[in-house]
Amino acid sequence: MTKKTTPPVDRAIVLVGLMGAGKTCIGRRLAERSGLPFVDADAEIEKAAGCTISDIFELYGEDAFRDGERRVIARLLEGPPVVLATGGGAFMDAGTRALVRRHGISVWLRADIELLLARTARRNDRPLLAGRDQRATLEALMKDRHPVYAEADVVVDSAREAPEVTVERVMAALHAHLRAGKGAEAAAR
Ligand code: S3P
Repeated sequence: MTKKTTPPVDRAIVLVGLMGAGKTCIGRRLAERSGLPFVDADAEIEKAAGCTISDIFELYGEDAFRDGERRVIARLLEGPPVVLATGGGAFMDAGTRALVRRHGISVWLRADIELLLARTARRNDRPLLAGRDQRATLEALMKDRHPVYAEADVVVDSAREAPEVTVERVMAALHAHLRAGKGAEAAAR
């Protein structure tokens, strides 16, 4: 397969989507391909708080986690461009969405329920899923969040395939998005 060269991006590439969609895995590879640094928002939140996300939820509650998440993502987006993997709830915040629109290109990694279930079953450090019916919880989150994720600039299906193949499709979608933007700019001139 011929690899697409990186589109010249001078803004952040922001991955959004549900837990288990592959934001971190695809984000790391995308960063390698695009030459931008990779940053995982959840890891940055943990670094800033000095404890795990599960601990933040348990000790301070979800609202405190969301405040920290909003602040950390704003700081990251206001810095130099990066590939940013966000936690599944981050894009639900209207202020965060506005910042992403201003500083980045958002990519929704869309995955079906079976894929999300298979992937989230591998870890038990997600407080929203801990001790709950995973399928029912994820289905409820899909219903709530998919219409908002759909506001992303680019939508790519995360599928049962080698991550490199998904990355390739993300690159193609980014190229198409940037080309369409240039076309619109030219038409407006
Ligand atoms: C959350 C997703 C998690 C993490 C936190 C809350 C969510 O990130 O931010 O547990 O609200 O969907 P991942 O999507 O990276 O698992």
